Amino acid sequence: MSRTVYLNGEYLPEDEAKVSIFDRGFLMADAVYEVTSVLGGKLIDFAGHQQRLERSLNELDIQKPDAFDDLLEIHRELVRVNGIEDGLVYLQVTRGSPGDRDFVFPDPATVKPTVVLFTQSMPGLATRPEARDGIKIISIEDQRWARRDIKTVQLLYPSMGKMMAKKAGVHDAWMVQDGAVTEGTSNNAYIIRGNTIITRALSQDILHGITRAAVLRFAQEAQMLIEERDFTIEEAIGADEAFVTSASAFVMPVIEIDGSVIGDGVPGGRALRLREIYLEESLKAAV
Ligand code: PDD
Repeated sequence: MSRTVYLNGEYLPEDEAKVSIFDRGFLMADAVYEVTSVLGGKLIDFAGHQQRLERSLNELDIQKPDAFDDLLEIHRELVRVNGIEDGLVYLQVTRGSPGDRDFVFPDPATVKPTVVLFTQSMPGLATRPEARDGIKIISIEDQRWARRDIKTVQLLYPSMGKMMAKKAGVHDAWMVQDGAVTEGTSNNAYIIRGNTIITRALSQDILHGITRAAVLRFAQEAQMLIEERDFTIEEAIGADEAFVTSASAFVMPVIEIDGSVIGDGVPGGRALRLREIYLEESLKAAV
């Protein structure tokens, strides 16, 4: 069955939604995006994703689309018409189409941003086997640009990272810069030592994960300690537990890095407990 998608104010069957070949999202990756998960037909952490979208737009001087204040309603309508129980809503805003190729930004008075949203149905998103079994990862060099705090659609290097992981027979890769882990290809990275969660501090080096913010808050409420600092792959391999967070993975235990097992080689109790708390609390607050 064809999905209904949203494009610039219209709800359309997916094969009727067309964007210009001159759109700067297509030609220059001049676009930002958000991914919001849906559980039980409701949106998780929607307000956080909308706030980060606004920040990404501001950082790149892309004008706020007219539809900005209607985004919750548009998300809900797509979830409703597509009958999504569990899955994701993908949102992308580009600087629009000036009708030709030019490095210089077009005049925002005449060229409006392009706004696209679509849903992805993923039944059982919160009960995937990886969450029970944990994931294996490799480490790779972080070769992305220097403004990773802006959620742009420049995802070529993260895609290459996923392919390197696939070739190595594992699930994902953690990226390393100057000897310290930045983040996963599409998630934030953490280790646990004793009762302390260690994760890289927020800066332009990593995406400020919406799931990260919620999980650190819940961890504090659960009397865990938090150290926001750099850590190396060696420290991660020697840690008691490791995990990643994102809107699609929630809290996902990591059991092996570069072929070395973490702890007992099975998902750690604290990571699993954090996943439980995150899902429980986020579902309560879902809209
Ligand atoms: N990725 N770091 C990177 C590089 C990411 O791409 C993501 C999210 C995160 C986690 O952010 P959040 O908790 O707000 O989802 C961290 C999304 C899920 C994606 O690209 O599909």
